[in-house]
Amino acid sequence: MSVTMSVTLNSGGVMPLIGFGTFKIKGKELVYKVLDAALAAGYRSIDTASVYRNEEDIGESLKELLPKYGLKRQDIFITSKLGPKDQGCGRCRQSCLQSLHSLQLDYLDLYLIHWPGTQGMQPGDARHRDLRLQSWSDMIKLQTEGKLKAIGVSNFLQHHIDDLIKATQHNPAVLQIEYHPHLIQRGLVDFCISKGIHFQAYSSLGTTTDHNTLLTDPVVSTIAKQRGVSLARVLLRWAVQRGIGVIPKSTDSDHIRDNMDIFSFSLSDEEMVSLDQLDTQSHLCWNPSQVL
Ligand SMILES: NC(=O)c1ccc[n+]([C@@H]2O[C@H](COP(=O)([O-])OP(=O)(O)OC[C@H]3O[C@@H](n4cnc5c(N)ncnc54)[C@H](OP(=O)(O)O)[C@@H]3O)[C@@H](O)[C@H]2O)c1
Repeated sequence: MSVTMSVTLNSGGVMPLIGFGTFKIKGKELVYKVLDAALAAGYRSIDTASVYRNEEDIGESLKELLPKYGLKRQDIFITSKLGPKDQGCGRCRQSCLQSLHSLQLDYLDLYLIHWPGTQGMQPGDARHRDLRLQSWSDMIKLQTEGKLKAIGVSNFLQHHIDDLIKATQHNPAVLQIEYHPHLIQRGLVDFCISKGIHFQAYSSLGTTTDHNTLLTDPVVSTIAKQRGVSLARVLLRWAVQRGIGVIPKSTDSDHIRDNMDIFSFSLSDEEMVSLDQLDTQSHLCWNPSQVL
């Protein structure tokens, strides 16, 4: 089964189906090294966030690396996110402009509200809804000004997204959320398809932990052995084969290269189903279901 390597967003922009994740990658030397490896391997999309505290290092590194690869700004798709402490009218705008400044960019290809809630409030606080609507309005304005090419959300569930759409009639371009064979969010995927929202998975490889349950899963391992590919490639291919975007993170140049090689093979229907059957609804990161 062939898969396209990019997706056209409802905003009109084109986003690569695979991007490079940068959570927990900090410090100029390391950021430069991994972005060098990622660009050499063919990644053209980079995922960051103000809370990752690496935007400045990414901006500096890209300034040096793009010429090395004969690339221009428009050849790279850059995503950043509004931190949960900066929700609300004005604060969102200021935080977005700060991200642009740190990254040394005139525009972001995609900007996401990182979390449906606001930092420092209880999950059931009724103010979360108002504050994220205010952020969304700021983002719509920034988009009309050309500073954001596309806007979207992260860690939002159906009711959070429905709220935004009802209040503003402006559908997010992307939902970025945890999704892998141990946490399949089928209802949410179907909802996003129905609204023209691109679904992008994070933590596809089981996140950075000493107890990685996905990269040690026996079913994933069996498929990987039979196919002669790594477990990581099986996990990433499982998502992209359904049109779901992935943003694997790695600091190892062999892994960075390996993770990019997911368009040269496909999984059979039987393999897809056996991976689907691994769903245990296990969250490796945060669970937004309590956020009002
Ligand atoms: N919006 C959100 O709230 C949110 C939350 C979490 C993540 N994200 C985004 O999603 C990205 C990816 O998620 P993640 O950071 O949780 O981690 P991930 O991509 O699921 O897993 C990263 C781990 O997998 C290992 N790994 C990578 N490639 C491998 C390979 N080919 N073989 C073996 N091990 C491999 C890495 O180790 P090595 O370094 O040794 O390769 C690292 O320990 C993040 O970096 C971030 O950009 C967003």
